Amino acid sequence: MLIIRHLVVIAGHWGRTALMTPILVACAVAAMLEPWLPSPRAPLSTNLRGKRIVITGANAGVGKHAALRLAKQGAEVVLACRNPSKAEAVRAEIEAASGTAAILRVDLLSFESVRAAARALGGSPIDVLLLNAGTNANVPTLRHPDADCSTVFGVNFLAQWLLLKLLARTTVVRRVVCLGSVMHHVADIQAVFEDRADYSESKLAMILLARDLDRGGGLFDDRIPAVAANPGAVSTEIWRYTPAFARPLFDLVARSIFLTPDQGAATSVHAATCALPPATDALYFAPYWQPSLFPSAFEWFGPFSGGANITYCRLPSNERAIASQLWRKCESLCGSALSDPL
Ligand SMILES: NC(=O)c1ccc[n+]([C@@H]2O[C@H](COP(=O)([O-])OP(=O)(O)OC[C@H]3O[C@@H](n4cnc5c(N)ncnc54)[C@H](OP(=O)(O)O)[C@@H]3O)[C@@H](O)[C@H]2O)c1
Repeated sequence: MLIIRHLVVIAGHWGRTALMTPILVACAVAAMLEPWLPSPRAPLSTNLRGKRIVITGANAGVGKHAALRLAKQGAEVVLACRNPSKAEAVRAEIEAASGTAAILRVDLLSFESVRAAARALGGSPIDVLLLNAGTNANVPTLRHPDADCSTVFGVNFLAQWLLLKLLARTTVVRRVVCLGSVMHHVADIQAVFEDRADYSESKLAMILLARDLDRGGGLFDDRIPAVAANPGAVSTEIWRYTPAFARPLFDLVARSIFLTPDQGAATSVHAATCALPPATDALYFAPYWQPSLFPSAFEWFGPFSGGANITYCRLPSNERAIASQLWRKCESLCGSALSDPL
């Protein structure tokens, strides 16, 4: 019975993705045309001296390269990571480039670790909280040790939602950047309420979080400026669970059209540093060149723009009701990890 349930979940996941095939192929062709499109915009170089920026999952991939870029721009970066030796290597790289970085140990598979991190971070204001850490284990049925949800949903969303909720008790957070993904387009929000949420749902939840924070009056009474960012399709360790049989084809596709981790970090850096309008539904950025006629044409793959562009995100029609239902679900999944005094 259990095996059949697992097969149905996996088939549903791949089936929804497969339906997108024609769009993916068109975007991939466009990505290959990148060299012939107008030259990329120069990266932002805002001076971030005196700014404190906390980045989850900053020891690899997009998070690591965002940390390097932001530190080079003068920010004091806190590398919130579970692997001290990998984090130490990133700190050394930052310091070699005359930047400043501190390491904070946090394992998003443990609520106790999240609570300890919130305690350690609390007090001094955080200029940007970059909720970047993520995993895609490709096993939708693997469960988070501390909550009745998948490991992927627990790490990518729930534990970072908990971190923010706990932090907000003691600390001013001036901006939140939530890492989304094109995969949110195929999310089934009901899966969250039926305890079968996986990667795509975790990314939709991140986008809903950014929009709720930015509106204010939802999860928190006061608005916290927030932005959602899709880093693009990036060659990083997140793909380490790609099945061996698919690896050769995957590597070929990745080499042809994926962004480098440094290019992938461009969206997060832009989201962390760009001027924001006073109040809006959160902006959602993607790194690809966008034709003016179809401004969301290249959200999956496409020619790299050099920075980030506002793009379209797909939301439930009753977004606000869904968001508040989601926060109630998170509260119940976190239980005493949220309700106990910090
Ligand atoms: N790469 C893409 O194509 C792509 C596309 C869309 C969105 N994204 C999003 O971009 C973000 C960064 O991903 P990436 O591609 O840079 O992947 P990555 O190279 O695998 O980096 C992910 C980071 O998250 C950390 N992490 C994973 N599980 C953790 C846990 N339990 N506790 C603490 N940290 C944990 C990893 O730490 P360890 O090194 O210890 O595992 C690593 O530092 C993710 O949110 C991902 O969903 C990526």
